[in-house]
Amino acid sequence: MTVNLIVLAAGQGSRMNSERPKVLHEIGAAPLLVHALSAGVTLSPSRIVVVAGVGAEAVTKAAQDWHPVCEVVIQAEQKGTGHAVLQAAPLLAEAGGDALVLYGDTPFIRPETLAAMQDARASSDIVVLGFDVADTTQRYGRLVADGASLEKIVEFKDADAATRAITLCNSGVVCADSATLFDLLGAVTNDNAAGEYYLTDIIAIARARGLTATVVRCPEAETLGINTRAELAAAEAAFQTRARAQAIEDGVTLTAPESVFFAHDTVIGRDATIEPNVVFGPGVTVESGARIRAFSHLEGCHVSRGAVVGPFARLRPGAELAEDVHVGNFVEIKNAQVAEGAKINHLSYIGDADVGAKTNIGAGTITCNYDGVFKHRTTIGARVFVGSNTMLVAPVTLGDDSMTATGSVITRDVGAGDMAIARAPQVAKPGLAVKFFDRLRAVKAAKGKGV
Ligand code: UD1
Ligand code: MG
Repeated sequence: MTVNLIVLAAGQGSRMNSERPKVLHEIGAAPLLVHALSAGVTLSPSRIVVVAGVGAEAVTKAAQDWHPVCEVVIQAEQKGTGHAVLQAAPLLAEAGGDALVLYGDTPFIRPETLAAMQDARASSDIVVLGFDVADTTQRYGRLVADGASLEKIVEFKDADAATRAITLCNSGVVCADSATLFDLLGAVTNDNAAGEYYLTDIIAIARARGLTATVVRCPEAETLGINTRAELAAAEAAFQTRARAQAIEDGVTLTAPESVFFAHDTVIGRDATIEPNVVFGPGVTVESGARIRAFSHLEGCHVSRGAVVGPFARLRPGAELAEDVHVGNFVEIKNAQVAEGAKINHLSYIGDADVGAKTNIGAGTITCNYDGVFKHRTTIGARVFVGSNTMLVAPVTLGDDSMTATGSVITRDVGAGDMAIARAPQVAKPGLAVKFFDRLRAVKAAKGKGV
C-alpha cells in the first residue's frame, strides 16, 4: 500500500523560550523534525509533506537538507492540528494511497510501531496510535474505545472527569486513506474549548459515517513530545541512554558508557573500543576494531579498522583515516585522507590534505591551508618523514620517500626521495649566554639600589 507522510511542524513552541522553531531544536545532533522524518521514511513513503508555519524558511531548509524529496506547505496561522493536516490536501488529494500524520516535535516513535499501524490499516479505515498514560493529570486527548474499536477522541480541555480518568491516550499519530482523511477533515469545525480545528474530531465523524477506527498501542516513552527546554534535556538523556545500550548490544566496548555521547547517525563496528569522554557529532563511522581514546571529539569522519585516535584528538568533517592509522594527542584533522599506517601522533593540524601510506608526521606539523581568502591543498606522498614543527605552506606537495628537516617552513614542492631544509642556519657564539645573563643581573642589582 502506498503511503504519504504528513509531518506537522508549524507550531510556535513558545514554551521553549527560543528564537528557533521548536522542531529545529536538536537531540543527538539532529533536529527533532529529522528524528520524526527518519522514523517515517522507513515505511518508504512516496511523498513527504512537511507542514511549516513559525520559522517556515528554516524548517524548509532543515527538511530539504535532510532529503530534497520533502515538500513543504505553509500553514500561515495555527488553527489546530486538523487545519494543519488539511494544508497538505492540495498536494496529496490526487496522490492516492494512505496518509500517515506525524508530529515534528515527537522524535522517539519507532519504525516498528509505524509498521504495526500500517498492518492494522488492513482491517480498519482509520488507525490511531495510543498509549497508556502513567499520570492521568497529563493533558493528552483521551481515546474512548470499545475493545479494539475506537469510538471517538476527546481532548483533555473538553473532557469531563470520567473521560479524563481514561488512561488510554492519543499520541497524535494517525493513518488513513488520504482522500478519506481530507474528506473527514472537511467536516471538522472549531466548536470546542480551544476554538481549534482538531484532527482528533475525525474519529467521531468517521464512525457516524459507518467507517471503522482502531487503536495500535505503544509505550508512553515513544510518544514523548518536546515542549520545554527541560523536556529537551530529558529527551537528550533518554536518547543517549538508548544509544549507549545499543552500541554495547552491537558489540562495542564502552569503558565508561555514561560519558560517551552519540549522534543520531553514529555507526560503530563490532569490537571497536570507545574510551571515556568521547563525543560523536553527526556523520561518524568507526570500523570494527578501531580504538577511540579518551576525550576525543569526532564529526563527519571515517575511522577504519585498526586505527587509533586520541587521547584528546579532534576529527572534523572530511577526515578519513585508513586502516591502522594513528592519530595522537592534540591533533586536529579536517578534510584530509590519511592512508594506511600513517602516523600523526602529536600536536598537529592537518587540513585539506592527503597523507600517504606509512608516512610519519612529526610533532607540531601544520598544514598552512588558509591564506585568509582561499583554502589550499597539501599533498604528502607515501613513506614521507615530516620533521617536527614543519610548516607546510599550501599548495605544496611532498613526493614519496621525501623528508623535511625539523623546523622547516616548506613553501615549494619537494621531489620524491629528496630532503628539504628550510630554516635559518645555526650560529654559535662562544660564552655569550653567560655574558648576557651577567649583564642583565648587573642591571637588576643596580635598579634594586635605586640607581
Ligand atoms: C495533540 C492532540 C492530542 C494528543 C497530543 C499528543 C489534537 C487536537 N490534539 O494535542 O489529542 O494527545 O497532541 O501530544 O490533535 N501543529 C501545527 N499546526 C497547528 C497546531 C499544531 O502544525 O495549527 C503541530 C504542532 O507544531 C505540533 C503538533 O501539531 O507538532 C501537535 O500540536 P499541539 O498543539 O502540541 O497539540 P496538543 O495540544 O499537544
Ligand atoms: Mg503537544
